[in-house]
Amino acid sequence: MLRLDNVTIQFGGLTALKDVDFTMGGDQLVGLVGPNGAGKTTLFNAISGLVRPTQGQIGFDGVDISRKPLYTRARMGIGRTFQIPQPMHELTVRENLVVAQRFGNGKVDHARIDELLAFMDLSAQAERDAATGLALQELKRLEVAKALATEPKLLLLDEVLAGLETNAKRYFTAKLNELHRRFKIGILIIEHDIETISTLCQRIVVLNFGQVIADGTPDIVFRDPAVIKSYTGAAHA
Ligand SMILES: Nc1ncnc2c1ncn2[C@@H]1O[C@H](COP(=O)(O)OP(=O)(O)OP(=O)(O)O)[C@@H](O)[C@H]1O
Ligand SMILES: [Mg+2]
Repeated sequence: MLRLDNVTIQFGGLTALKDVDFTMGGDQLVGLVGPNGAGKTTLFNAISGLVRPTQGQIGFDGVDISRKPLYTRARMGIGRTFQIPQPMHELTVRENLVVAQRFGNGKVDHARIDELLAFMDLSAQAERDAATGLALQELKRLEVAKALATEPKLLLLDEVLAGLETNAKRYFTAKLNELHRRFKIGILIIEHDIETISTLCQRIVVLNFGQVIADGTPDIVFRDPAVIKSYTGAAHA
């Protein structure tokens, strides 16, 4: 469903992604890991359309989307969350989902919004002000609900588990598993916590300095000397 061929992204003199080749199927749940600054969010930005590749191509459902605008990609079925939750200010939780639906397939469907709110355990918060009325965990749930409201076939989750305490993390991990099963969509998730990502994903892709250095099951990937070195190297940097 998603295919990156030789994707390179440069910001001035900085190469954030270098010759990235990557494919994933529509039913996969894939973890994307790597040290700070490795290029993970940039990869999401390239797929969702916030940045354009300097070189290479991005294909989605057989169509070259490398140069398609953000909203076209959203309508084709690419949904995402942001590393820092970005609720629309002065709108309620429900109104945020209305905006997301308009951005997605264009139609507002309140029954579907109710379903998504219930699924993400946000029904009680539906009429609250999103920017000020929510705890961190609720904000993260809203981020996911917003992405789901665009009706994605591929969901990109950028550190939705980061900053949560252990119980909240467990709850969220179970929720993502359920989401993957129930909505039958592909999920690519960025997460630093190795234990969490290993529990959630059967396939892990590791980025380091903008390059894919490993791709496989958690067992194999997290025992790979190059992966261990990339993490310890970053810790010493
Ligand atoms: N719009 C931009 N303009 C210039 N440089 C950028 C831009 N976006 C990202 N970068 C740089 O590209 C590199 C990769 O950044 P990116 O945010 O993709 O890393 P990351 O793997 O998501 O890191 P983290 O784990 O800290 O979130 C970094 O050096 C970053 O400073
Ligand atoms: Mg990031």
